[in-house]
Amino acid sequence: MNDAMNTTMNAASNDANNDASKKPGKIMLVGIGPGSNDHLTARARAAIAEADTIIGYVTYIRLVTDLIEGKEIIKKSMTEELDRAIEAYERAKQGKKVALVSSGDAGVYGMAGPTFEVLFQAGWTPDSAIEVEIVPGASALNTCAALVGAPLTHDFCAISLSDLLTPWPVIARRLNAAADADFVVALYNPKSGRRTRQIQEARRLFLAHRRPDTPVAIVKSAYRPKQRIEFTTLDKMTECDIGMLSTVLIGNSSTFVRDGLMVTPRGYASKYDVESGGTHAGEQAGRSLSTGLNGWLETIRSSGKTPDELATQYGLPASYIAETLAAETMAENPAENPETDQENDGENAAGAST
Ligand SMILES: C[S@@+](CC[C@H](N)C(=O)[O-])C[C@H]1O[C@@H](n2cnc3c(N)ncnc32)[C@H](O)[C@@H]1O
Repeated sequence: MNDAMNTTMNAASNDANNDASKKPGKIMLVGIGPGSNDHLTARARAAIAEADTIIGYVTYIRLVTDLIEGKEIIKKSMTEELDRAIEAYERAKQGKKVALVSSGDAGVYGMAGPTFEVLFQAGWTPDSAIEVEIVPGASALNTCAALVGAPLTHDFCAISLSDLLTPWPVIARRLNAAADADFVVALYNPKSGRRTRQIQEARRLFLAHRRPDTPVAIVKSAYRPKQRIEFTTLDKMTECDIGMLSTVLIGNSSTFVRDGLMVTPRGYASKYDVESGGTHAGEQAGRSLSTGLNGWLETIRSSGKTPDELATQYGLPASYIAETLAAETMAENPAENPETDQENDGENAAGAST
């Protein structure tokens, strides 16, 4: 936390943190979704209606213009996130209901984190009179994915390429790890007027692990009037129109594009015959894959290989392999009975709740 923030917040915390004579205010961290009214949740709309004061980045305020007539509006620029949070706390202490609006979801590269940092710094706790409500919204990864097909139907992660607050080696390490681990990746803040090289570096790191023809979708201004969708490949993605309002979705090794839709398979085809619905040899419906945890334990136990050799083969820490080999044979888990699984966990044939 910087000095300016310390000074402001110390001053703020000294006066009337919990002044009983005033009705307690409220801070609502409102995710407004991608920017169209159709994708604003009912609770986000109600929270904005309930608020006396609306605080946000100018562009986000513009996106909700027709909902905020007659309210106090505090517009801040992009770099004034802490100011927005401090301002919200000041107003809440005066008994106001404040809606701090973020695009997408306030908890995804949004105002929720900075606001809690400011509040804690000022001595606020969840038991304080000022209530804080987080109103979830559809984040860019959900909305951009919906526009291009089903790219996130298997493990994925989000990485921001903004190095304004995060050192580049940290970002590069995360990119490298995600690329190596075959995650589908949603790149937020991929490029701006000043930050043009980060996306090129990201491409280079990914190409060290992924095929050049790995599908990539670039969605700009999702659900806004200037929406633009481009399908490309990893090797060509930096030739595309990418800006501050773009999210870049990079597929994993199984992702494909067909008839204009980017799809990442759940894995059904490796277990089931898609035409007959029957299972492939060695697999059982509702049970872990033959290469699932128990099958894999059996394989490594009978391999005769050392932990170091297995570590190289599977890209896992040797210490983990050694401990795993030393552990007792995992007892067959009674909960693996498919009927029990579905009753208890809602687990489906792919092995996850839907
Ligand atoms: C500071 S982050 C805010 C993310 C936001 N809180 C969310 O959950 O989507 C800004 C980045 O989000 C992405 N983004 C936000 N709105 C978008 C939209 N409508 N279309 C495409 N990408 C968007 C872009 O990558 C942009 O650079």
